[in-house]
Amino acid sequence: MTSLKKWIGEEEQEKGIDWDFPDARREKTNYSSHGVHSYTSKYIPQIPHFLIRKYSQEHDLILDNFVGSGTTLIEAALLNRNSIGVDLNGYPCLISFVKTLILKPDEIKSLKLYLGNIQNYIQSFRSQKNHLSERVNFKELHLDETIASQTFVSRLYSQENLTELLIIKSVINTIESERIRKILTLCLLGILRRVSFLSSNFANDYVPRNKNKKSDVLKEFISEYDDILERLIDFSKKASDKIKIRILNEDTRDLSLNNESVDLIINHPPYISAVPYAEYFKLEMLWLGLVPKELNKKIIGGQRGSNNVVERFNEGMEKTFVEMFRVLKKGKYACVVIGNARVKGKIIESNKDFIEIAKKAGFTFIEDICRNKLDCANAWMKTEHILIFKKE
Ligand SMILES: C[S@@+](CC[C@H](N)C(=O)[O-])C[C@H]1O[C@@H](n2cnc3c(N)ncnc32)[C@H](O)[C@@H]1O
Repeated sequence: MTSLKKWIGEEEQEKGIDWDFPDARREKTNYSSHGVHSYTSKYIPQIPHFLIRKYSQEHDLILDNFVGSGTTLIEAALLNRNSIGVDLNGYPCLISFVKTLILKPDEIKSLKLYLGNIQNYIQSFRSQKNHLSERVNFKELHLDETIASQTFVSRLYSQENLTELLIIKSVINTIESERIRKILTLCLLGILRRVSFLSSNFANDYVPRNKNKKSDVLKEFISEYDDILERLIDFSKKASDKIKIRILNEDTRDLSLNNESVDLIINHPPYISAVPYAEYFKLEMLWLGLVPKELNKKIIGGQRGSNNVVERFNEGMEKTFVEMFRVLKKGKYACVVIGNARVKGKIIESNKDFIEIAKKAGFTFIEDICRNKLDCANAWMKTEHILIFKKE
């Protein structure tokens, strides 16, 4: 697996950064643990990579207060910086947590052991299932009935696949180590769609069209496990185990961080309501016991059908910038990546709104870098803005 350093040399640096990153194709954006699990609305690692190099020093503390799947934190770790990631949704917090784990040798051994346990339980279920009544009794098998009883979830699976997913979940729940439990939980979430009746990978397509689809839960789980483990081992080799990475499941408008404690902020807020997070991640959230409806009410850019979505978004961002200003050290920078979304047919110039909001919070505006999103299929979202602010 390569890393950014290998394909963008110092020479390129001297010539200046082309923020369009015309060479950033898939193989150059999903190296190491960036390729663990997918997350709608990720940004490419090249963006935080060069911002970190430009605006911070080794061992500095970097905050991403809209962390999503942890892209900033991975780059921070690979560049020997400490980091904190914040997200209101427990699901991306889990993704970020796993993707930034620096594995210890005994943890790799434990993972193999638990994978063996999972295999044994599934094999044993498979050998007995012919003797079981046609309808699986989840209670009898001590499996999580709350998930099985939700029609939204159960209609997506055959009885057999649902039972096997629940068996894996129940084995994972017995694991004491939070780190091992979370890695295996992410492996489970990674196969939820693959072993369902869904026929596409579109996050908002929940129609169980393909009832004849054949899939093997155990085989998929092992393949997901192998991929994640390989990527985490790669990340663990490249990142220093001296750095600290923390993930906070909290609201960016009310951070638990101390005043003037952070050396650099890099973030990538929602593009107003372009991605309906609670809807897109409903399946994964329900498997985690999270409540998508509650998230939709709280999230910045949520409840996208409501009339005042832009005003509420900007209000949320006002509070966010005030918090960013509070936690950032004097003389340091905040970099915000934003795309101008279309709401009810009208393009909202969030880059301009953010500049005003940031100034009101106390920041000095430094630069608005407009970059072409060369890999983007949406006609109206061909560009995005990297806004640079300073706390004087
Ligand atoms: C555009 S995504 C960030 C993606 C990230 N750059 C990556 O590469 O994965 C924005 C994130 O902001 C989070 N978010 C929205 N409102 C929030 C809030 N009030 N507090 C914390 N996080 C919030 C969403 O859950 C989402 O994960």
